[in-house]
Amino acid sequence: MVKQLLEEFLLFSPGPVDEVRIFFAPGRVNLMGEHLDYNGGFVLPAAINVGTWCLVRPRKSPGWRIKSRTESLEIIGLSSDILPPKPERGFANYPLGVVAMLRQADIPVPDADCYFAGTIPQGAGLSSSASLEVVTAYALTHLAGLSLDRTVLAKLAQQAENDYVGVPCGLMDQLTVTLGKEQHALLLNMQDLTCRPVPVPMQADWALVIVDSRKPHQLIVSPYRKRREECAAALALLHQQQWPIRYLADIRPDDLPRALAALGDPVLERRVRHIVHEQERTIHASEVLAQGDFTTFGRLMNASHESLRLDYEVTGPELDVLAMAAWSVPGCAGSRMTGAGFGGSTIAWVSRHAIDQFIAEVQAQYESRFGYAPAFLVASLADGVHEVFMTPEEAKSCEY
Ligand code: GLA
Repeated sequence: MVKQLLEEFLLFSPGPVDEVRIFFAPGRVNLMGEHLDYNGGFVLPAAINVGTWCLVRPRKSPGWRIKSRTESLEIIGLSSDILPPKPERGFANYPLGVVAMLRQADIPVPDADCYFAGTIPQGAGLSSSASLEVVTAYALTHLAGLSLDRTVLAKLAQQAENDYVGVPCGLMDQLTVTLGKEQHALLLNMQDLTCRPVPVPMQADWALVIVDSRKPHQLIVSPYRKRREECAAALALLHQQQWPIRYLADIRPDDLPRALAALGDPVLERRVRHIVHEQERTIHASEVLAQGDFTTFGRLMNASHESLRLDYEVTGPELDVLAMAAWSVPGCAGSRMTGAGFGGSTIAWVSRHAIDQFIAEVQAQYESRFGYAPAFLVASLADGVHEVFMTPEEAKSCEY
């Protein structure tokens, strides 16, 4: 793959091969802790082995020349016209948003030819946007000879998505893409942004299967923004009544009945109940994962899906059918939606000998209901963003 990408890059940007730098950022799944990042809770995501490649070379003329492998459009962004974002620039708004945020933070951004290629299925809810933003930030800062703190990098990438692209996402995705660790999940404390890698002994009997509903989710138009507003409203109500909390995830399980009574609104009650229970599940899940207890983890996943279906109301028929079909397969420890919801993917822990049966059964149930098949990916847990090195001989062989 790398060799082929380098050949393609040299057609797009002819010149000495030793000037070219190659970077890769993964996508992510969230194993537990959904909609907790913007509520100050714990989340338990992991970087996965699909992601975004970015090949760069310093450019002598001004600007950032941007091209993706799958789109014919080639964009040149100049510092004079980078703001505001322009819809006709399509995907290039993500890398250009990163450039804009780096410059706003007074971080030097060298002019460059940038070529992108992605292996994350679009719309699957596996953070293709965060992966694209992070790989751009990492590549351009490394080209400038800088090595930024990974949390700072994640925040700049999130800022590009929030302020430039206009999607109100939290920080979980970008943090996972920067901090990911092979064969580990990450227990992230979204208040102080500390990260504890949790080993996932997957070489044992269990596989992580991602099932893409192929119903795209859309963060801009989806109820995602609405959920954030509801959470802000619930927190404001509790603050009015002097609750000594900074975030909804600070509500202790013992105090939940009192908090629900204080809200006095059935919708806000359901949202807050999800947050408090999901926070408990996430801490519990990180403990059992470290012990390799996938059976208990699976039960927590099922409970999480039900909470997201009934209390947070972000699943929808496609994800419900996928999760429930998974629950009916012997050899599946548990399954839940992952990410924002409203479309995208579910995940499941599946005993390795049951993977074929799992795929056949879930596909049959989904297809009979919706008339098209979902897509399956047996994932492994991967490292965060990094540079990819080729030997000089390998690189030379790509020149023509
Ligand atoms: C999306 C957002 C994240 C997070 C999840 C829900 O993936 O980008 O910040 O809020 O939804 O857990």
